[in-house]
Amino acid sequence: MTTTAGPHAADKEVFPAAAALADALREQGHLRDPRWLQAVAAVPRHLFAPAQAWAQPAGGQPHAIDRAADPAGWMRQVYAPATPVIIQLDDGQTPVASGDGVPTSSLSEPAIAAGFLELLAVRDGNTVLEIGTGSGWTAGLLSHRLGEQRVTTIEVDAQVAAQAQHSLQTAGYHPAVITGDGALGWPTGAPYDRVHVTCGITHIPYAWVRQCRPGAVIVLPWLPNGYAGHQLRLHVDSAGRATGRFHGGCGYMMMRSQRSRWHAHHADAARTRDGALDPRELAYGDPGLHLLLAALQPGVTQMAIDDADGSFSLLLFENRGDNGSWAAADYLPGTGQVHITQYGARSLWDEAEAAFDDWAERGMPDRGRFGLTVDDSGSHLWCDTPQQTIPPMPDPQNNGGV
Ligand SMILES: C[S@@+](CC[C@H](N)C(=O)[O-])C[C@H]1O[C@@H](n2cnc3c(N)ncnc32)[C@H](O)[C@@H]1O
Repeated sequence: MTTTAGPHAADKEVFPAAAALADALREQGHLRDPRWLQAVAAVPRHLFAPAQAWAQPAGGQPHAIDRAADPAGWMRQVYAPATPVIIQLDDGQTPVASGDGVPTSSLSEPAIAAGFLELLAVRDGNTVLEIGTGSGWTAGLLSHRLGEQRVTTIEVDAQVAAQAQHSLQTAGYHPAVITGDGALGWPTGAPYDRVHVTCGITHIPYAWVRQCRPGAVIVLPWLPNGYAGHQLRLHVDSAGRATGRFHGGCGYMMMRSQRSRWHAHHADAARTRDGALDPRELAYGDPGLHLLLAALQPGVTQMAIDDADGSFSLLLFENRGDNGSWAAADYLPGTGQVHITQYGARSLWDEAEAAFDDWAERGMPDRGRFGLTVDDSGSHLWCDTPQQTIPPMPDPQNNGGV
């Protein structure tokens, strides 16, 4: 075993499996920065994985992993570059090894975590706030790279936070682990040079910008409509504004307070018609189309249901309980017909069709042309330059803003 020279964790060993993971991330192009590669090789990822968990290999079959029953298989999944390891389901209400529930906490997929670490663009001496501690592995990497005294990580789930703190200590790191709502940031440790968000975000809390120094960088998975995620990097300026562009795709577990729930209330009063636009064009369309939709239909969540028999439904809904508008576009296999159902003050599918046309008229801009600015009045999506903001479609209930 060799010894690395991290700035504040000088004598961490390099573990063979962790070193192999660092090599794989480098060879596959996910991670280039030598200092981060060194951190991945030095932080023992297996110390952050529970004995029983649920592996979700990219392109493979999700399955339970059990260290006692199959130690080699468990290690293989824990150190696989493209495998997130689920460590909690349904906020802890369902045993994780069952795999039968909504994932609510994880040991992040290395390839995705690596992309965000590169985007974070840290410098020696930076302080960092991580939102969403989860397993604690990312906090371990940040502690290795920057020094544990410069890292604060906040986790909403007390049990997850306690386990992460234990794992970090076992690995030899002692960053500040806070149990609380990361949407509020952590003013006690402010100002920060970097904010690293590791749960999906729809509404970006201004508290994060306020708690940053000018010149700070905030990276986050932006999931404006609930399922299509975009890596966003924001730069904080001295006027208290954060602006930046989108960099790639990602899926993430949503921040607890920003989850959406679907239920088709008042179905008897819904309006129906035939449709022309195949809802799959929208659901599986270009990420640039998804960003334009997010700008034009702020606060509208999408849910895609792809059935084995070839039928497909795209649901659009506002998160306002029984007062919210909703729409369903159902594609019927065989006939190729599309059936539209809409309820509420807004006709959400009509709006989505208009957004699709708008995207085509703009020349089908891709994700790289979009960006977002956050100030104390909210978030504003733009195309090409921050001056070219995209106003939301008129909302009869006057509830605009991203
Ligand atoms: C994808 S996991 C994070 C993975 C982690 N960073 C790692 O290194 O393995 C997302 C975490 O965010 C947490 N979370 C959700 N909402 C939160 C909130 N409002 N504040 C802080 N943490 C939150 C979840 O409980 C979950 O543990």
